Amino acid sequence: MKLCMIGTGYVGLVSGVCFSDLGNTVYCVDKDINKIESLNNGNIPIYEPGLEEILKKNYKQKRLFFTNDLKKAVLKSEIIFICVGTPTKKNSNSADLKFVFNVVKELKKIIKTYKIIVTKSTVPVTTGDKIENILARLKKNKLVDVVSNPEFLREGEAIRDFIYPDRVVVGTNSKKANKILQSLYLPIIKKKNKYFNTSRRGAELIKYASNAFLATKISYINELANLCEKTGVDIKDISVGIGSDQRIGERFLRAGPAYGGSCFPKDTRALSDTAKKFKSNLSIVDTVIKSNENRKKLLIKKIDKILKGKIKNKVITFLGVTFKPNTDDMREASSIPMIKYLNKKKCTIKYYDPSGEKNEFKRLQNVKYHSTINSACSNSDLIIIHTEWNDFKLINFKKIVKKNSFIIYDMRNIYSPTKMKRLNIKYFGIGR
Ligand code: UGA
Repeated sequence: MKLCMIGTGYVGLVSGVCFSDLGNTVYCVDKDINKIESLNNGNIPIYEPGLEEILKKNYKQKRLFFTNDLKKAVLKSEIIFICVGTPTKKNSNSADLKFVFNVVKELKKIIKTYKIIVTKSTVPVTTGDKIENILARLKKNKLVDVVSNPEFLREGEAIRDFIYPDRVVVGTNSKKANKILQSLYLPIIKKKNKYFNTSRRGAELIKYASNAFLATKISYINELANLCEKTGVDIKDISVGIGSDQRIGERFLRAGPAYGGSCFPKDTRALSDTAKKFKSNLSIVDTVIKSNENRKKLLIKKIDKILKGKIKNKVITFLGVTFKPNTDDMREASSIPMIKYLNKKKCTIKYYDPSGEKNEFKRLQNVKYHSTINSACSNSDLIIIHTEWNDFKLINFKKIVKKNSFIIYDMRNIYSPTKMKRLNIKYFGIGR
Protein backbone atom coordinates (compact mmCIF):
# COMPACT_ATOMS: atom_id res chain seq x y z
CA MET A 1 0.00 0.00 0.00
CA LYS A 2 1.01 3.62 -0.39
CA LEU A 3 1.03 5.62 2.82
CA CYS A 4 1.70 9.19 3.83
CA MET A 5 2.83 10.00 7.36
CA ILE A 6 2.43 13.68 8.20
CA GLY A 7 4.87 14.68 10.93
CA THR A 8 8.23 12.98 11.39
CA GLY A 9 8.26 13.20 15.16
CA TYR A 10 8.41 10.14 17.31
CA VAL A 11 5.09 8.59 16.26
CA GLY A 12 5.25 9.41 12.55
CA LEU A 13 8.84 8.37 12.08
CA VAL A 14 8.67 5.07 13.97
CA SER A 15 5.32 4.09 12.41
CA GLY A 16 6.42 5.16 8.91
CA VAL A 17 9.68 3.23 9.11
CA CYS A 18 7.93 0.11 10.45
CA PHE A 19 5.15 0.27 7.83
CA SER A 20 7.79 0.48 5.08
CA ASP A 21 9.50 -2.56 6.55
CA LEU A 22 6.23 -4.46 6.09
CA GLY A 23 6.53 -3.80 2.33
CA ASN A 24 4.49 -0.61 1.99
CA THR A 25 5.68 2.50 0.18
CA VAL A 26 5.80 5.29 2.76
CA TYR A 27 6.15 9.03 2.25
CA CYS A 28 7.14 10.77 5.48
CA VAL A 29 6.34 14.47 5.29
CA ASP A 30 7.49 17.31 7.51
CA LYS A 31 7.46 21.09 7.21
CA ASP A 32 10.90 21.26 8.80
CA ILE A 33 13.28 21.47 5.83
CA ASN A 34 16.39 20.75 7.92
CA LYS A 35 14.83 17.66 9.45
CA ILE A 36 13.88 16.21 6.07
CA GLU A 37 17.31 17.04 4.67
CA SER A 38 19.03 15.35 7.56
CA LEU A 39 16.75 12.28 7.31
CA ASN A 40 17.59 12.09 3.60
CA ASN A 41 21.25 12.10 4.64
CA GLY A 42 20.64 9.20 6.98
CA ASN A 43 20.67 11.22 10.22
CA ILE A 44 17.91 10.33 12.65
CA PRO A 45 16.56 13.08 14.92
CA ILE A 46 15.50 10.74 17.76
CA TYR A 47 17.22 8.07 19.80
CA GLU A 48 15.32 4.83 19.37
CA PRO A 49 17.12 1.46 19.48
CA GLY A 50 16.88 -0.43 16.17
CA LEU A 51 15.28 2.42 14.21
CA GLU A 52 18.35 3.44 12.22
CA GLU A 53 18.99 0.00 10.70
CA ILE A 54 15.38 -0.46 9.56
CA LEU A 55 15.21 3.10 8.24
CA LYS A 56 18.40 2.75 6.19
CA LYS A 57 17.38 -0.65 4.81
CA ASN A 58 14.00 0.58 3.54
CA TYR A 59 15.38 3.90 2.30
CA LYS A 60 17.86 1.96 0.15
CA GLN A 61 15.06 -0.29 -1.13
CA LYS A 62 13.19 2.89 -2.16
CA ARG A 63 10.16 2.07 -0.06
CA LEU A 64 10.73 4.96 2.32
CA PHE A 65 10.84 8.61 1.32
CA PHE A 66 11.29 11.86 3.22
CA THR A 67 9.86 15.01 1.74
CA ASN A 68 8.57 18.54 2.41
CA ASP A 69 6.10 18.24 -0.44
CA LEU A 70 2.81 17.43 1.26
CA LYS A 71 0.73 17.67 -1.91
CA LYS A 72 2.79 15.18 -3.92
CA ALA A 73 2.92 12.72 -1.01
CA VAL A 74 -0.84 12.92 -0.38
CA LEU A 75 -1.75 12.51 -4.03
CA LYS A 76 0.39 9.38 -4.28
CA SER A 77 -1.01 7.78 -1.09
CA GLU A 78 -4.12 5.77 -0.24
CA ILE A 79 -3.92 6.31 3.51
CA ILE A 80 -2.87 9.58 5.16
CA PHE A 81 -1.72 9.34 8.79
CA ILE A 82 -1.74 12.53 10.84
CA CYS A 83 1.14 12.21 13.30
CA VAL A 84 1.71 15.78 14.46
CA GLY A 85 2.13 16.85 18.08
CA THR A 86 -0.74 17.63 20.45
CA PRO A 87 1.11 19.36 23.31
CA THR A 88 -0.59 20.85 26.36
CA LYS A 89 -1.87 24.37 25.60
CA LYS A 90 -0.16 27.22 27.42
CA ASN A 91 -1.89 28.11 30.72
CA SER A 92 -4.42 25.31 30.40
CA ASN A 93 -4.68 21.53 30.54
CA SER A 94 -6.22 21.04 27.09
CA ALA A 95 -4.44 19.40 24.20
CA ASP A 96 -3.45 21.99 21.60
CA LEU A 97 -4.95 20.77 18.33
CA LYS A 98 -3.77 23.58 16.07
CA PHE A 99 -1.19 21.38 14.30
CA VAL A 100 -3.82 18.71 13.61
CA PHE A 101 -6.38 21.16 12.24
CA ASN A 102 -3.77 23.00 10.13
CA VAL A 103 -2.91 19.69 8.45
CA VAL A 104 -6.61 18.93 7.88
CA LYS A 105 -7.13 22.34 6.25
CA GLU A 106 -4.23 21.61 3.87
CA LEU A 107 -5.65 18.17 3.07
CA LYS A 108 -8.99 19.76 2.26
CA LYS A 109 -7.33 21.66 -0.60
CA ILE A 110 -5.37 18.69 -1.93
CA ILE A 111 -7.68 15.66 -1.90
CA LYS A 112 -9.47 14.87 -5.17
CA THR A 113 -9.88 11.05 -4.98
CA TYR A 114 -10.82 8.72 -2.12
CA LYS A 115 -8.37 8.74 0.82
CA ILE A 116 -8.51 7.43 4.34
CA ILE A 117 -7.40 10.04 6.87
CA VAL A 118 -6.17 8.48 10.06
CA THR A 119 -5.35 10.34 13.27
CA LYS A 120 -2.43 8.68 15.01
CA SER A 121 -1.79 11.81 17.04
CA THR A 122 -3.34 11.54 20.50
CA VAL A 123 -6.51 13.63 20.22
CA PRO A 124 -9.42 14.17 22.64
CA VAL A 125 -12.65 12.31 22.05
CA THR A 126 -14.80 14.02 19.33
CA THR A 127 -11.76 15.48 17.49
CA GLY A 128 -12.53 13.11 14.57
CA ASP A 129 -16.01 14.68 14.35
CA LYS A 130 -14.41 18.13 14.12
CA ILE A 131 -12.01 16.94 11.41
CA GLU A 132 -14.95 15.52 9.49
CA ASN A 133 -16.77 18.85 9.77
CA ILE A 134 -13.80 20.63 8.19
CA LEU A 135 -13.85 18.05 5.41
CA ALA A 136 -17.67 18.04 5.09
CA ARG A 137 -17.68 18.56 1.33
CA LEU A 138 -15.21 15.74 0.71
CA LYS A 139 -17.14 13.50 3.09
CA LYS A 140 -20.41 14.24 1.30
CA ASN A 141 -18.79 13.25 -2.00
CA LYS A 142 -17.46 10.03 -0.39
CA LEU A 143 -13.87 11.16 -0.95
CA VAL A 144 -12.72 10.68 2.64
CA ASP A 145 -13.17 8.52 5.69
CA VAL A 146 -11.82 9.91 8.93
CA VAL A 147 -10.49 7.17 11.20
CA SER A 148 -8.86 7.09 14.64
CA ASN A 149 -5.95 4.67 15.06
CA PRO A 150 -4.08 5.56 18.26
CA GLU A 151 -0.54 4.34 18.84
CA PHE A 152 0.65 2.44 21.90
CA LEU A 153 4.40 2.65 21.32
CA ARG A 154 6.70 3.08 24.28
CA GLU A 155 9.84 5.11 23.71
CA GLY A 156 12.86 2.84 23.74
CA GLU A 157 10.70 -0.19 22.90
CA ALA A 158 8.81 1.29 19.97
CA ILE A 159 9.93 -1.12 17.23
CA ARG A 160 9.00 -4.17 19.32
CA ASP A 161 5.69 -2.57 20.33
CA PHE A 162 4.91 -1.88 16.67
CA ILE A 163 5.71 -5.38 15.42
CA TYR A 164 4.20 -7.26 18.37
CA PRO A 165 1.29 -5.09 19.48
CA ASP A 166 -1.02 -6.13 22.32
CA ARG A 167 -3.80 -4.74 20.15
CA VAL A 168 -4.40 -2.51 17.15
CA VAL A 169 -7.34 -0.19 17.75
CA VAL A 170 -9.14 1.20 14.71
CA GLY A 171 -12.04 3.58 15.25
CA THR A 172 -14.38 3.83 12.28
CA ASN A 173 -17.84 2.78 11.22
CA SER A 174 -16.87 2.79 7.55
CA LYS A 175 -16.71 -0.82 6.35
CA LYS A 176 -14.51 0.23 3.43
CA ALA A 177 -11.94 2.01 5.59
CA ASN A 178 -11.96 -0.77 8.14
CA LYS A 179 -11.27 -3.42 5.51
CA ILE A 180 -8.33 -1.46 4.07
CA LEU A 181 -6.81 -0.82 7.52
CA GLN A 182 -7.26 -4.44 8.50
CA SER A 183 -5.29 -5.53 5.44
CA LEU A 184 -2.59 -2.93 6.20
CA TYR A 185 -2.15 -4.36 9.71
CA LEU A 186 -2.57 -8.00 8.63
CA PRO A 187 1.17 -8.89 8.74
CA ILE A 188 1.38 -7.97 12.43
CA ILE A 189 -2.03 -9.13 13.63
CA LYS A 190 -2.31 -12.41 11.76
CA LYS A 191 -1.03 -14.60 14.60
CA LYS A 192 -3.78 -13.65 17.00
CA ASN A 193 -6.94 -11.72 16.77
CA LYS A 194 -5.47 -8.45 17.94
CA TYR A 195 -7.39 -6.13 15.67
CA PHE A 196 -10.13 -4.22 17.43
CA ASN A 197 -12.60 -2.21 15.42
CA THR A 198 -14.65 0.25 17.42
CA SER A 199 -16.29 3.64 16.96
CA ARG A 200 -14.04 6.59 16.19
CA ARG A 201 -14.86 8.27 19.48
CA GLY A 202 -14.22 4.96 21.23
CA ALA A 203 -10.74 4.68 19.75
CA GLU A 204 -9.92 8.26 20.69
CA LEU A 205 -10.93 7.66 24.28
CA ILE A 206 -9.21 4.25 24.53
CA LYS A 207 -5.87 5.97 23.97
CA TYR A 208 -6.32 8.41 26.87
CA ALA A 209 -7.95 5.80 29.08
CA SER A 210 -4.93 3.47 28.57
CA ASN A 211 -2.33 6.07 29.40
CA ALA A 212 -4.30 7.37 32.39
CA PHE A 213 -4.79 3.84 33.71
CA LEU A 214 -1.06 3.10 33.46
CA ALA A 215 -0.27 6.42 35.15
CA THR A 216 -2.73 5.46 37.89
CA LYS A 217 -1.02 2.09 38.38
CA ILE A 218 2.36 3.81 38.75
CA SER A 219 1.05 6.46 41.15
CA TYR A 220 -0.65 3.75 43.20
CA ILE A 221 2.56 1.76 43.61
CA ASN A 222 4.51 4.96 44.30
CA GLU A 223 2.15 5.95 47.13
CA LEU A 224 2.32 2.42 48.53
CA ALA A 225 6.11 2.75 48.41
CA ASN A 226 5.80 5.70 50.81
CA LEU A 227 3.87 3.51 53.22
CA CYS A 228 6.45 0.72 52.81
CA GLU A 229 9.22 3.11 53.84
CA LYS A 230 7.35 3.83 57.06
CA THR A 231 6.53 0.19 57.82
CA GLY A 232 9.77 -1.56 56.82
CA VAL A 233 8.21 -3.53 53.96
CA ASP A 234 9.94 -3.89 50.56
CA ILE A 235 7.77 -2.43 47.76
CA LYS A 236 9.24 -4.97 45.33
CA ASP A 237 7.53 -7.72 47.36
CA ILE A 238 4.24 -5.83 47.16
CA SER A 239 4.59 -5.50 43.36
CA VAL A 240 5.21 -9.25 43.02
CA GLY A 241 2.53 -10.15 45.56
CA ILE A 242 -0.22 -8.12 43.93
CA GLY A 243 1.03 -8.30 40.34
CA SER A 244 0.81 -12.08 40.18
CA ASP A 245 -2.95 -11.74 40.51
CA GLN A 246 -3.83 -11.71 36.81
CA ARG A 247 -6.65 -9.28 37.46
CA ILE A 248 -4.00 -6.75 38.51
CA GLY A 249 -1.06 -7.74 36.28
CA GLU A 250 2.63 -7.44 37.07
CA ARG A 251 3.64 -4.71 34.62
CA PHE A 252 3.83 -0.98 35.42
CA LEU A 253 4.15 -1.67 39.12
CA ARG A 254 7.74 -0.49 39.48
CA ALA A 255 7.96 2.21 42.11
CA GLY A 256 10.28 5.09 41.26
CA PRO A 257 10.41 8.86 40.88
CA ALA A 258 7.43 10.74 39.44
CA TYR A 259 6.49 9.39 36.02
CA GLY A 260 7.48 11.66 33.14
CA GLY A 261 7.82 11.70 29.37
CA SER A 262 5.85 13.23 26.56
CA CYS A 263 2.70 11.19 27.14
CA PHE A 264 1.51 10.38 30.67
CA PRO A 265 1.72 13.93 32.11
CA LYS A 266 0.22 15.53 28.98
CA ASP A 267 -2.48 12.90 28.42
CA THR A 268 -3.70 12.72 32.03
CA ARG A 269 -4.06 16.51 32.00
CA ALA A 270 -5.90 16.47 28.68
CA LEU A 271 -8.23 13.65 29.78
CA SER A 272 -9.12 15.51 32.95
CA ASP A 273 -9.77 18.62 30.86
CA THR A 274 -12.01 16.69 28.42
CA ALA A 275 -14.02 15.24 31.32
CA LYS A 276 -14.57 18.76 32.66
CA LYS A 277 -15.70 19.98 29.24
CA PHE A 278 -18.29 17.19 29.16
CA LYS A 279 -19.28 17.94 32.78
CA SER A 280 -18.14 14.50 33.85
CA ASN A 281 -16.15 13.68 36.97
CA LEU A 282 -12.80 11.91 36.60
CA SER A 283 -11.62 12.49 40.16
CA ILE A 284 -9.27 9.46 40.04
CA VAL A 285 -7.28 10.97 37.18
CA ASP A 286 -7.23 14.37 38.92
CA THR A 287 -5.79 12.69 42.01
CA VAL A 288 -3.16 10.87 39.97
CA ILE A 289 -2.00 14.16 38.46
CA LYS A 290 -1.74 15.68 41.96
CA SER A 291 -0.03 12.62 43.38
CA ASN A 292 2.62 12.73 40.66
CA GLU A 293 3.26 16.43 41.25
CA ASN A 294 3.59 15.77 44.98
CA ARG A 295 6.03 12.96 44.28
CA LYS A 296 8.50 15.38 42.70
CA LYS A 297 8.50 17.44 45.91
CA LEU A 298 8.57 14.38 48.14
CA LEU A 299 11.71 12.94 46.55
CA ILE A 300 13.47 16.30 46.78
CA LYS A 301 12.62 16.38 50.49
CA LYS A 302 14.00 12.86 50.82
CA ILE A 303 17.32 13.92 49.27
CA ASP A 304 17.41 16.74 51.80
CA LYS A 305 16.77 14.26 54.60
CA ILE A 306 19.41 11.79 53.36
CA LEU A 307 21.98 14.60 53.44
CA LYS A 308 20.61 15.79 56.80
CA GLY A 309 19.88 19.21 55.29
CA LYS A 310 23.58 19.82 54.56
CA ILE A 311 23.49 20.10 50.79
CA LYS A 312 25.81 23.10 50.29
CA ASN A 313 29.24 22.14 48.88
CA LYS A 314 28.30 18.47 48.57
CA VAL A 315 29.15 16.60 45.36
CA ILE A 316 26.03 14.89 44.01
CA THR A 317 26.07 12.56 41.02
CA PHE A 318 23.10 11.69 38.85
CA LEU A 319 23.31 8.42 36.95
CA GLY A 320 20.70 8.84 34.23
CA VAL A 321 18.60 11.96 33.77
CA THR A 322 16.15 10.96 31.02
CA PHE A 323 12.56 10.09 32.01
CA LYS A 324 13.23 6.43 31.20
CA PRO A 325 16.06 4.35 29.71
CA ASN A 326 16.78 3.85 25.98
CA THR A 327 15.67 7.32 25.03
CA ASP A 328 17.30 10.75 24.96
CA ASP A 329 13.96 12.36 25.83
CA MET A 330 14.02 14.80 28.75
CA ARG A 331 10.37 15.88 28.56
CA GLU A 332 8.93 16.11 32.08
CA ALA A 333 11.86 14.07 33.46
CA SER A 334 11.80 14.25 37.25
CA SER A 335 15.57 14.83 37.22
CA ILE A 336 14.93 18.41 36.04
CA PRO A 337 13.21 19.76 39.20
CA MET A 338 15.61 17.75 41.38
CA ILE A 339 18.76 19.11 39.72
CA LYS A 340 17.39 22.67 39.62
CA TYR A 341 16.61 22.53 43.34
CA LEU A 342 20.01 21.08 44.25
CA ASN A 343 21.77 23.60 42.04
CA LYS A 344 20.08 26.44 43.94
CA LYS A 345 21.34 24.90 47.18
CA LYS A 346 24.91 25.40 45.89
CA CYS A 347 26.21 21.89 45.61
CA THR A 348 28.24 20.48 42.74
CA ILE A 349 26.24 18.27 40.44
CA LYS A 350 27.86 15.79 38.08
CA TYR A 351 25.75 13.72 35.79
CA TYR A 352 26.20 10.93 33.29
CA ASP A 353 23.58 9.67 30.87
CA PRO A 354 24.24 7.15 28.07
CA SER A 355 22.23 9.39 25.72
CA GLY A 356 24.65 12.29 26.25
CA GLU A 357 24.70 15.84 27.54
CA LYS A 358 21.41 17.70 28.02
CA ASN A 359 20.50 21.24 26.96
CA GLU A 360 18.26 21.53 30.04
CA PHE A 361 21.34 21.74 32.28
CA LYS A 362 23.82 23.60 30.08
CA ARG A 363 23.08 26.99 31.64
CA LEU A 364 23.29 25.80 35.25
CA GLN A 365 26.63 26.85 36.62
CA ASN A 366 27.43 23.96 38.94
CA VAL A 367 25.96 21.18 36.84
CA LYS A 368 28.44 19.31 34.63
CA TYR A 369 28.05 16.43 32.25
CA HIS A 370 30.66 13.66 32.50
CA SER A 371 31.27 11.26 29.67
CA THR A 372 31.90 8.19 31.84
CA ILE A 373 30.28 6.65 34.90
CA ASN A 374 33.67 6.58 36.65
CA SER A 375 34.40 10.25 36.25
CA ALA A 376 30.85 11.21 37.25
CA CYS A 377 31.10 9.17 40.47
CA SER A 378 34.77 9.53 41.46
CA ASN A 379 34.50 12.13 44.26
CA SER A 380 30.81 11.91 45.02
CA ASP A 381 29.10 12.29 48.39
CA LEU A 382 25.76 11.11 47.06
CA ILE A 383 25.05 9.06 43.94
CA ILE A 384 21.46 9.21 42.73
CA ILE A 385 20.47 6.47 40.30
CA HIS A 386 17.66 8.29 38.53
CA THR A 387 17.13 6.22 35.35
CA GLU A 388 17.45 2.45 35.07
CA TRP A 389 19.78 2.21 32.06
CA ASN A 390 21.41 -1.24 31.79
CA ASP A 391 24.80 0.50 32.09
CA PHE A 392 24.08 1.15 35.77
CA LYS A 393 23.18 -2.39 36.79
CA LEU A 394 26.61 -3.81 37.66
CA ILE A 395 28.67 -0.95 39.00
CA ASN A 396 31.46 -1.60 41.50
CA PHE A 397 30.89 1.59 43.51
CA LYS A 398 33.60 0.81 46.07
CA LYS A 399 36.13 0.74 43.25
CA ILE A 400 35.11 3.88 41.42
CA VAL A 401 34.30 6.28 44.26
CA LYS A 402 37.51 7.57 45.74
CA LYS A 403 35.95 8.62 49.05
CA ASN A 404 35.76 6.59 52.25
CA SER A 405 32.14 7.27 52.76
CA PHE A 406 29.45 7.98 50.22
CA ILE A 407 25.70 7.40 49.91
CA ILE A 408 23.66 5.77 47.15
CA TYR A 409 20.04 6.77 46.54
CA ASP A 410 18.74 4.16 44.12
CA MET A 411 15.47 5.57 42.78
CA ARG A 412 14.88 2.51 40.57
CA ASN A 413 15.63 -0.19 43.16
CA ILE A 414 18.31 -1.78 40.97
CA TYR A 415 20.59 -2.89 43.82
CA SER A 416 19.98 -5.17 46.78
CA PRO A 417 19.91 -3.34 50.12
CA THR A 418 21.40 -6.41 51.85
CA LYS A 419 24.35 -6.56 49.46
CA MET A 420 24.94 -2.85 49.93
CA LYS A 421 24.91 -3.29 53.70
CA ARG A 422 27.41 -6.12 53.37
CA LEU A 423 29.65 -3.81 51.34
CA ASN A 424 29.30 -1.18 54.03
CA ILE A 425 27.71 1.30 51.64
CA LYS A 426 25.02 3.63 52.96
CA TYR A 427 22.10 2.82 50.68
CA PHE A 428 18.56 4.14 50.20
CA GLY A 429 16.02 2.78 47.76
CA ILE A 430 12.40 3.56 47.05
CA GLY A 431 9.82 1.96 49.33
CA ARG A 432 12.23 -0.34 51.13
C1 UGA B 1 3.61 5.60 27.16
C2 UGA B 1 2.78 4.32 27.04
O1 UGA B 1 3.38 3.26 27.79
C3 UGA B 1 2.62 3.89 25.58
O2 UGA B 1 1.75 2.77 25.48
C4 UGA B 1 2.03 5.06 24.79
O3 UGA B 1 1.91 4.76 23.42
C5 UGA B 1 2.93 6.28 24.94
O4 UGA B 1 3.03 6.61 26.34
C6 UGA B 1 2.30 7.41 24.16
O5 UGA B 1 1.19 7.84 24.52
O6 UGA B 1 2.85 7.79 23.12
P1 UGA B 1 6.25 6.15 27.19
O7 UGA B 1 5.84 7.50 27.70
O8 UGA B 1 7.20 6.06 26.07
O9 UGA B 1 4.93 5.30 26.75
O10 UGA B 1 6.95 5.38 28.40
P2 UGA B 1 6.51 4.36 29.54
O11 UGA B 1 7.36 3.15 29.43
O12 UGA B 1 5.05 4.15 29.57
O13 UGA B 1 6.99 5.15 30.86
C7 UGA B 1 6.39 6.39 31.24
C8 UGA B 1 6.88 6.80 32.61
O14 UGA B 1 6.41 5.90 33.61
C9 UGA B 1 8.40 6.81 32.77
O15 UGA B 1 8.79 7.95 33.51
C10 UGA B 1 8.72 5.54 33.53
O16 UGA B 1 9.89 5.59 34.27
C11 UGA B 1 7.49 5.45 34.43
N1 UGA B 1 7.21 4.07 34.91
C12 UGA B 1 6.81 3.11 34.05
C13 UGA B 1 7.35 3.80 36.25
O17 UGA B 1 7.72 4.67 37.07
N2 UGA B 1 7.06 2.55 36.70
C14 UGA B 1 6.65 1.55 35.87
O18 UGA B 1 6.39 0.43 36.35
C15 UGA B 1 6.52 1.84 34.51
